[in-house]
Amino acid sequence: MDMPIVPARPIKKRVETSFKTSPLPSQLSALLQKAYSAEKAAAYAYQGHSASVKSLPEKAAIRQIEEDEWNHRKEVFAIMNHYAIPVSKWYEVRFAVIGRIISASCHVIGWFMPFFFAGKLESGNVCEYFRMKRYFNSIGINTWDIILYEMGMKEKEHEIYFLNKIRQSRVLPFFERFFNWGRNKSFNNIDLDKKYPVEESDGYCKK
Ligand SMILES: [Fe+2]
Ligand SMILES: [Fe+2]
Repeated sequence: MDMPIVPARPIKKRVETSFKTSPLPSQLSALLQKAYSAEKAAAYAYQGHSASVKSLPEKAAIRQIEEDEWNHRKEVFAIMNHYAIPVSKWYEVRFAVIGRIISASCHVIGWFMPFFFAGKLESGNVCEYFRMKRYFNSIGINTWDIILYEMGMKEKEHEIYFLNKIRQSRVLPFFERFFNWGRNKSFNNIDLDKKYPVEESDGYCKK
């Protein structure tokens, strides 16, 4: 008996999934993932901070800062999306816990400390975005210059807001000596009154 002729199955072509642009170095991807999650920690922390202060103008200002952090998270997410970088589940959980702990602690550590530590944290965050910008530039990408520059500057504005709130405090010099941040010490070299434009901002955060 003749065997029925089975038509040959068409060979499926392997479709290679490609990135919209070239993938980033893993170190830079990790920086973006971390910044994305850290922005959530900051936003959570400010929720507790704004709830813990009594003054209405302070509440409004801290709520605005929280809003800025959510916006930063969106901006960072857009960059990650562009390069198909996934959100890190580990960072998301870790920073959510950190944010919630800071948020709760704002209700028990008095008025001064939440302002002090927020300012100190913002001071360090400023450089995250300037370093990220330099990293992108070093691999020939300038697409995100303005967005990263603006996020860095916004963090500087946050730092100055918190510093101005506690500038006159008698305990500030003690905290400054101990934690290296305050009236005379900062974790970045940006002066908002003498800002360099984006194209001349490479001298920021070189340390
Ligand atoms: Fe931020
Ligand atoms: Fe901030």
